[in-house]
Amino acid sequence: MTKLVIEGGTRLKGKVNISGFKNAALAIIAGTILSDKKCMIENLPVIKDVIVYKEILKELGAEVEFTEKGKLTVDGSGIKDCNLLNGLTKKLRASYYLLGAGLGRFKEVTISYPGGCDIGVRPIDQHIKGLEALGGEFTIEDGLISVKADRLVGTKIYLDVVTVGATINIMLAAVYAEGKTIIENAAKEPHVVDAANFLNAMGADIRGAGTDVIRIYGVEELHDCDYSVIPDQVEAGTYMIAAALTKGDVIINNVIPKHLEPITAKLKEMGMGIEEYGDSLRVFYNKKLKPVNIKTLPYPGFPTDLQQPMTVLLSTVEGDSIVIESIFENRFRYIDELLKMDVNIKVDGRTAVIKGVKKLKAAEVKATDLRAGAALVLACLAAEGISTVRDVYHIDRGYEFIENKFMNLGAKIKRIEETEND
Ligand code: UD1
Repeated sequence: MTKLVIEGGTRLKGKVNISGFKNAALAIIAGTILSDKKCMIENLPVIKDVIVYKEILKELGAEVEFTEKGKLTVDGSGIKDCNLLNGLTKKLRASYYLLGAGLGRFKEVTISYPGGCDIGVRPIDQHIKGLEALGGEFTIEDGLISVKADRLVGTKIYLDVVTVGATINIMLAAVYAEGKTIIENAAKEPHVVDAANFLNAMGADIRGAGTDVIRIYGVEELHDCDYSVIPDQVEAGTYMIAAALTKGDVIINNVIPKHLEPITAKLKEMGMGIEEYGDSLRVFYNKKLKPVNIKTLPYPGFPTDLQQPMTVLLSTVEGDSIVIESIFENRFRYIDELLKMDVNIKVDGRTAVIKGVKKLKAAEVKATDLRAGAALVLACLAAEGISTVRDVYHIDRGYEFIENKFMNLGAKIKRIEETEND
């Protein structure tokens, strides 16, 4: 029962440090179980999903501990199998990576069916198709998903849709498959590349990550490694959009500007000033913003994870904008919450038609999923008056110290823990 109370209307100014990328971190933490040697992972975000994944590894038998902030050591020598039936895997989507990693190392996995944000059907048929092609046999019943194989043999796998999760899952298992695996129509997202770089640092032989054809040459064993996770593209994009929304001037440190190009391009098109300095960006307001149209697409297109914050920004920009969500069919649900703040948005299927309003009204709103939660925080930062965001646990899954980071930029935002009696 945690809420964020936000007094909006302040221009954000100052510097913010971006944390490690959640979506890369979760794939990498899962990947550590491929080895029975020690791995040290740095630059992990301090977020709920990482803590849950650490717990998952511990339950599997790994020795796992944070030696300092964002630095996790994993010793997987104590893991004897990859069966986890206590429901922990239901707490997050990325637990599906245990299927690939566990199949790779133990040739057998049983877990509770993965959970995650409710933003659409989110099938895992491509994960199944890929792991089956390598030799896995699946059973799904009573809320459990199992896969096992006598041996894994490399092959050519064509993905019917561009999927980050299936691309990484196939890479995880194929590391130990005999011979060569080729993934065609692979996802090119930065976290696919980061997961491949991590696996290569452990001794895997993966080539082509970042293009749509990835080749994995099977190896017999992996060794220990130290690895640092890339900065979070989505967190960085959220602060860039927040700077635009509050007519602010924010330096965003610890970023890879290349990963942010789809966001930088759109914000510039709207009229925001953006300057690039090595691993940081200055995002500043200097003239009235113009409406733009957005369509979410696989990388290097505009990321679906930033569709919601961007829609909030466009809802405050005079004129008409159109946002098309092409990745997840149910990612406009939060607009019902946003309507409480007097936005003018009409949703028809996967399209939102936005007529910019002059100002947002303060309101009490509820996070409906992780990125929607962040978008609502942004809306409250822009609204005049005091707003409340409830169901903050969604946001805590993926944003490190969100209220502190915004407070350091001058925002008036407070976390309040409510007891049953409040
Ligand atoms: C991951 C990210 C999520 C991001 C998304 C798209 C994690 C933990 N989550 O989610 O933050 O929004 O990528 O960048 O990294 N699909 C299928 N069959 C499958 C798999 C996917 O049809 O087997 C479809 C999905 O429904 C969706 C599209 O493919 O329409 C992309 O999904 P995918 O990239 O796999 O997303 P997730 O791994 O769920």
